[in-house]
Parts: sequence; C-alpha cells; structure tokens
Amino acid sequence: MNFLIFGAIAYLLGSIPTAVWIGRLKYDIDVRKHGSKNAGATNTFRVLGKKAGVFVLTIDILKGVLAVLIPFLTLSYTWNNDHLIHLKIVSGIFVVIGHIFPVFVGFRGGKGVATSLGVVLGVHPQAAAICIVLFLIVFISSNYVSLGAIVASISFPLLIEFLFKNDNLSLLIFSITLSSAVIALHHRNIKRLIEGNENKMNLFKKNT
Ligand code: G3P
Repeated sequence: MNFLIFGAIAYLLGSIPTAVWIGRLKYDIDVRKHGSKNAGATNTFRVLGKKAGVFVLTIDILKGVLAVLIPFLTLSYTWNNDHLIHLKIVSGIFVVIGHIFPVFVGFRGGKGVATSLGVVLGVHPQAAAICIVLFLIVFISSNYVSLGAIVASISFPLLIEFLFKNDNLSLLIFSITLSSAVIALHHRNIKRLIEGNENKMNLFKKNT
C-alpha cells in the first residue's frame, strides 16, 4: 500500500512541468517548440535565458530530492531498514517517470537529468557529489551538456558498485535502471554528438 501511495505522490510531483509552465506563464513560450524541444533545464537556458534556466534546474532537482525525502520524513521510524530503502527507490523511479511523462502537459516532459540528480542526492549523496563533479568537468571542457549528463549517468551505477562497494541488489538495479533511462532518452543527442552537430553551451559566454 505504501508503495502505491508514495509512487503516486512521486509521480505527481515529478509531473510538475517546471520548464513548460515557467515558459508559458512568464514568457508566453512553450519550450517544447523551440531549441532542442526538450522540456528541461538545458533547453530553458537555451530558449528563455539564464534566470529561467537556473529556476527550472533548481525546482527540477528539488522535485527529485523531495520525492525520496517524503518516505523518509513520514516513515522515519523505519529509517535504515529495507522497507524504507525500497520506498525511496520506488519514489525515485516514479518522480523521474513523472518528469519524463508529465500528466499535466500531455505526457511530454524532459529527459530526467535534473530530477534524477535530485533523486541520487537523496538516495546516495556521495555518489551524487562525484557525478556532479564529473558532469562539470565534461560539460565545461566540451561545452556539451548532454555529454556531461551521459558520462555522469554511466558513472552512477559504476560508482555505487565499485567505489562504494554497494551490497544492496535493489540499489544496484535502481542505479542501472535510472542510468539506462537517462541515456536512452539522450539518443538524439548521442546521434548529434557522433555527427558533430550537437548543440553547444558555454557557461561563460552566450549560448551557441
Ligand atoms: O538535460 C538534458 C540535457 O542533457 C540535454 O538537453 O536540450 O540539449 O537536449 P538538450
């Protein structure tokens, strides 16, 4: 029963389409019709600018953090037991599903990078910190956000398993699932990267 309730809450939370709503409400623009057509933080930076991009990035990360914190805050007496870890994993999966397929805007959302980061921060903060560093290194040196996101996604299950010596099978399956989903959703970016025409973004200059 708990799984159903927390899964539903997480899905609805993930479904809050930050990029679409901020675009429509403040700029009268649907980001899904411009740039990469993705309803995520990167395309918001690209289409609506830095202020809107930072806002979307922050809220989308918070959605992920909050989704995995809700079971912890409401069932903290079971902290550290298997049940709570499974609830956090289920909430983590459903908040990302909500972000990718948001019920409030026709099931066309983002690629789940920022929300997945929030989930990973809530589930395994140490691995999340390393993923952020890897993302920043790849992004800043290549100017490809997507490449940074892909490298960070691949790293997550590897870090869990080999650096942090995880012994929880559910956590491993969860990390592989999350990572595979994010990579699969980047298939167009991967094609553009291979063809050499992926969109670039320079943190310190105007976007190209
Ligand atoms: O957050 C998604 C990012 O990795 C790529 O976004 O808009 O360039 O497809 P975009």
